[in-house]
Amino acid sequence: MRILVTGGSGRLGRSVVATLAARGHEVSSADLAPAGPAAGVRSHALDLLDEQARDDLFAAEHPDAVVHLAGIAVPFARPDTEILDINTRLAWGVLAAAARHGARSAVAASSPTVFGYGAPAWRPRYLPLDERHPTAPRHSYGLSKVIIEETARTLARAEASGCTLTCVRPGYVIAPEEWAGAPTQQGHTVAERLREPELSAVALFNYIDARDAAELFALLAERPEAVRSGDVYHAVAEDALALAPLAELLPRYHPGTAEAAAALTGTRAAFSSAAASERLGWRPRRTWRGQLPEKVSGDG
Ligand SMILES: NC(=O)c1ccc[n+]([C@@H]2O[C@H](COP(=O)([O-])OP(=O)(O)OC[C@H]3O[C@@H](n4cnc5c(N)ncnc54)[C@H](O)[C@@H]3O)[C@@H](O)[C@H]2O)c1
Repeated sequence: MRILVTGGSGRLGRSVVATLAARGHEVSSADLAPAGPAAGVRSHALDLLDEQARDDLFAAEHPDAVVHLAGIAVPFARPDTEILDINTRLAWGVLAAAARHGARSAVAASSPTVFGYGAPAWRPRYLPLDERHPTAPRHSYGLSKVIIEETARTLARAEASGCTLTCVRPGYVIAPEEWAGAPTQQGHTVAERLREPELSAVALFNYIDARDAAELFALLAERPEAVRSGDVYHAVAEDALALAPLAELLPRYHPGTAEAAAALTGTRAAFSSAAASERLGWRPRRTWRGQLPEKVSGDG
């Protein structure tokens, strides 16, 4: 298939581009930053908010599938209104163009932050969080992701094009080089996020290897007939990024979660990706215990 990846130069995008190419697809990447050298991948450096440049790109590439990752990926990284504006305009522009230009599938990156954990009065109805749990964002980044999910549903209703539009909520993405000690998105190493639980607590101790997440994006791009337009899928590791059970850790950092967290014994994560497993046979294959080169210990 011809697959266009937006944000292909980013932390997650690099693994998505490599995974799609390894699966035999004809891959192109569109990003503000040129993609690094990857065999057989066409790289387009452009601002996807520029309507003319975006239309020219779609007219030239005519993708069968689109994976939309471009955006501001970090809460509070820019003024609130900028994050909301950029992420939502990018999503509408790219997903609508995918449908209009005849793509059969388009998959966009959402985020687990749609649940709003970290708000002072946050109480999950239940844990682990699945895709049926209500969303309640607490910052403009999380709100932008709720709107992106609704954008996919809106376009799915409006467009009679036969493009299946879905979203993935990846956990805290760990790129391959980050297992070896490169800084993760928030600047800390994976080992530091394990040793200092307050660092991972802000993400409810979730994580996902970028290559594992990339496989779910690939399956959704390849198999639109297996899912429904508007579907959202979690892509989160099955174990928590923590040295102690979340039944202990969650109430320490998120007061009021003790009852819901009681079931999170052993290594269980606060998120479930069972839907992607049931629909598409996807399962995350890499865990921090298998990927970190050295054993990590701490006070948990
Ligand atoms: N990294 C995570 O932990 C994580 C978790 C959940 C969801 N996500 C989402 O996954 C996606 C990718 O995240 P990432 O960590 O790879 O982020 P990243 O910042 O590494 O990559 C995003 C890419 O988008 C590009 N981009 C931004 N604005 C653009 C524009 N106007 N035109 C063209 N390109 C533009 C950037 O240049 C960058 O290369 C984002 O949508 C993010 O919100 C990331």
